[in-house]
Amino acid sequence: MTASGTRSILPPLSPEEARHSAAVAALIHAELAAAAGWLSFERFMELALYAPGLGYYSAGSFKIGAGGDFVTAPEVSDLFGRCLARQCAEVLAVTGGEILELGAGSGRMAATLLTELAAHGVLPQRYAILEVSADLAARQRSRLAQLPPGLRERVVWLERLPERPLQGLILANEVADALPCRRFTCRARGVRELGVAPGEGADPLAFHEQYAAADASLAQACRELRAALPAPLPEGYTSEVCLRVAPWIAALSECLGRGVLLLCDYGLPRSHYYHPQRGSGTLRCHFKQRAHDDPCVNVGVQDITAWVDFTRVAHAGLAADLTVSGFATQAAFLLALGLEGLVAEADDTVQRARLAGEARRLIMPEEMGEAFKVMALTRGCDVALAGFALQDLRHLL
Ligand SMILES: C[S@@+](CC[C@H](N)C(=O)[O-])C[C@H]1O[C@@H](n2cnc3c(N)ncnc32)[C@H](O)[C@@H]1O
Repeated sequence: MTASGTRSILPPLSPEEARHSAAVAALIHAELAAAAGWLSFERFMELALYAPGLGYYSAGSFKIGAGGDFVTAPEVSDLFGRCLARQCAEVLAVTGGEILELGAGSGRMAATLLTELAAHGVLPQRYAILEVSADLAARQRSRLAQLPPGLRERVVWLERLPERPLQGLILANEVADALPCRRFTCRARGVRELGVAPGEGADPLAFHEQYAAADASLAQACRELRAALPAPLPEGYTSEVCLRVAPWIAALSECLGRGVLLLCDYGLPRSHYYHPQRGSGTLRCHFKQRAHDDPCVNVGVQDITAWVDFTRVAHAGLAADLTVSGFATQAAFLLALGLEGLVAEADDTVQRARLAGEARRLIMPEEMGEAFKVMALTRGCDVALAGFALQDLRHLL
């Protein structure tokens, strides 16, 4: 679809959004000009999402929740955080220590977790949040300020990962999919890298996708990928590869002394992710609850994500001396942690019906149940994690 074709199916930008998007586009054009007119998709995504003060996550649009661009599991229902709290309680009972949440969004999951953990009598010593978005961090502060003092006093915001290894849990819901990724297309004579160049029409702030030779790191990653896949990728096959996963997991491993790194995200094991039939990749953009696949429009005011290759995450974990202790669908994880019981014990039929609807969104295959996966990477934590008692998909990795 062309840029104007994509725009025609999206709600129009408000004047403020148009001004903001133009500022982000101008910044990226300046970098394009300094880079001979071509940027890798990874760099384009990094600037569009995280350019200081301007990128989608760095600046102040509403983003998450019903009034924003997309809805995440903690925003669908507190049932998600209540189930997750049971998994956290089980780990904290053994390790003690703290919880570090990466990218805490609106703060809703943190509020639910702390409230539930207090009810379980297993509170973390502190609840640290590492958030790259100043705007979202402000939302988190105002939401978590409403907790009772004994809970809110445990919450701290970090500027960077802790230097001293922690005991407990590191949680990341829908963070890995926001790591900037590279894009490639298979050609008969090797892979080509898909990046971004200035648009060719009248709009001086437009972009279009353009190919360049794959550099050594991307070519090597694609060679390894193709060697590991059961079927060859056909000519024209386009997808993504996130080379930031390994350094990210390595950095998280450095700060996990004993405990569990729990990642929840939409994603697949490698052989399913790079299936020949998934020939145009998994890149998605989100704008006002509409999903589309054109990252060159609404730059800086829409989210850009790609699904997570969980085999890459598992390999990165093993390389960082972590153990892959669990891999399951979100549905299996939540059901194993007692989702149905939480619905059944609702106070009255109206509330039960509401919770049943929310639970369906979290677990039905056509909603979030199958596409979202949960992976546990652990160190020194010999607990049979309850969330993975119903399903073990590690053989697919
Ligand atoms: C899709 S939102 C998910 C928010 C929240 N976890 C939820 O489920 O509602 C992605 C979040 O990750 C944050 N983020 C992105 N990259 C990050 C990084 N490298 N470290 C920490 N947070 C990050 C964003 O600012 C945002 O809060």
